[in-house]
Amino acid sequence: MSRPTCRVLYPGSFDPMHLGHVDVVEQAAELFGTVVIAAMHNPSKPSGMFTVDQRVAMITESIAHVPGVEVHPFDGLAVDAAIEFGADFMVKGLRNGGDFEIEQQMAHTNHSVSGVRTVYVPCRPEQVFVSSRFIREIAQYGREVSHLVPKPVAAELARLFPPTEAAPEIRS
Ligand code: PNS
Repeated sequence: MSRPTCRVLYPGSFDPMHLGHVDVVEQAAELFGTVVIAAMHNPSKPSGMFTVDQRVAMITESIAHVPGVEVHPFDGLAVDAAIEFGADFMVKGLRNGGDFEIEQQMAHTNHSVSGVRTVYVPCRPEQVFVSSRFIREIAQYGREVSHLVPKPVAAELARLFPPTEAAPEIRS
């Protein structure tokens, strides 16, 4: 198969990046070519755990093994990030039907106001339950989430929230 040459935008809050996000970046790079990750503030979510600059730093370290990926902070509409970074279209990961409902509405709205299209990538089945929100909630109590996030994120979470002495082991 010849190498794909599209340039795609992967926008998100990435607060923090988890292994589901890494999987979407890997799939998009393989399928499309260059992936531009835009770390953005999601106005519908409460203020973040990490600043956008901290997220950019952790994302950059976490995807260093994937060739052809750029990471940028962006403040504004996702479609404007797509236009500014010269993306052909946007890519989003889908975990379940709930994600589909939200993403489909955003995809239609974004296309209607800009002409920028969105393509979905299915998450790996073993990662359909992983979410940044629950990782933030659990990590704050010093509990183990390192199997759900890339190593740079696990290290930063452990620095911010040292593991609780009394935390029970994860049952197998
Ligand atoms: O990782 P998230 O929180 O699901 O990412 C959501 C994000 C940041 C991609 C979305 O909130 C977004 O596109 N924000 C930028 C504002 C925007 O473009 N709004 C119009 C949506 S139709």
